[in-house]
Parts: sequence; C-alpha cells; structure tokens
Amino acid sequence: MKTIQIPVFIDEFDPDELPPDIRELKARAEAAREQAYAPYSRFRVGAALLLDDGTVVTANNQENAAFPSGMCAERIAVWYAGARYPGRVMRKLFISARSETRTVDRPVPPCGACRQAIAEYEIKQNSPIEIWFAGETGKIWRSPSLENLLPLLFDRHML
Ligand code: THU
Repeated sequence: MKTIQIPVFIDEFDPDELPPDIRELKARAEAAREQAYAPYSRFRVGAALLLDDGTVVTANNQENAAFPSGMCAERIAVWYAGARYPGRVMRKLFISARSETRTVDRPVPPCGACRQAIAEYEIKQNSPIEIWFAGETGKIWRSPSLENLLPLLFDRHML
C-alpha cells in the first residue's frame, strides 16, 4: 500500500493586488451578483466569465420556490457561454458572493456541482480555466484551473 497525495494550489490576493483584467472581471461579477434572484437564501452570487476573444459572459443565481429547481450563477455562466459561444475558449471565471443577512468576508468557492459542470468545458477545450472567487470583502483566491479544485474528477476519459 502507498498513500498518494494530490495537492491543491491556491493563490491569495488582497483586493489592491489584483491585475487590471481581474479587477474588471470582479466588477462585472459584482454587478451581476446584485441582480441575482435569491429571495429564499438571500445569498447572492455573481459570475463573470472571460472568453478568449475578450467577451465577458455574466450570470447570477436564479432561485425557485421549488428549491432544487433553482440554479447557481457559475453554471448559468458556463452553460450560456457553451450555448452562445461554442467555439470560444473559456479563460477566467470570477465568482463573487454576498449575503443579505451577514457579511461574507472570505472567498466563496464554487459548489461541487458547479465544479463538475465547469470541468466539462476545461476538458473539452484542453486548456485551464482560472477560477477566481471572493466574498463581499476580504481576500480573493485564485485556482489555476478547475481540475485543481476537483481532484479525481470524473470526465469523458472514464467512459
Ligand atoms: N450558489 C451559487 O450560485 N453558486 C455556488 O457555487 C454556491 C451556491 C447559490 C445557489 C443558491 O441560490 C444560493 O447560492 C444558496 O445556496
């Protein structure tokens, strides 16, 4: 028997250290976040996805009275990009979360289902998607790829 370690690498930034393109993406994610439809959780999430031609696709979470029928911001963003810009490469995704009931002062990572959905496109395009995530305040975290956030992911190579 041997133990296999699979490390995860995260880069942490202060808001004033962000590169200019990420500042812009963050602002787009925050603007989208404020338009979320989240009357049940009061937890607003915005996503801004930069494509290789410079297009930015934005989305936010959309809830439903039948709770499981709602959808996360990130999945809407990548699915919309997949639907509308099928030939483009997804480069960077910024996720921003804010609660209406408390201050979210730490980075909010994408949920497991969103990781699996984003992974599909990273595998399809065979190039990494940087995943940036933040709360309302505090540090900002960057993962160099989706796979880094979902070690041992299930993909088309297992089929
Ligand atoms: N949510 C997202 O939009 N993205 C995530 O990765 C985690 C959760 C949304 C879903 C729901 O509308 C609310 O946040 C609370 O879970």
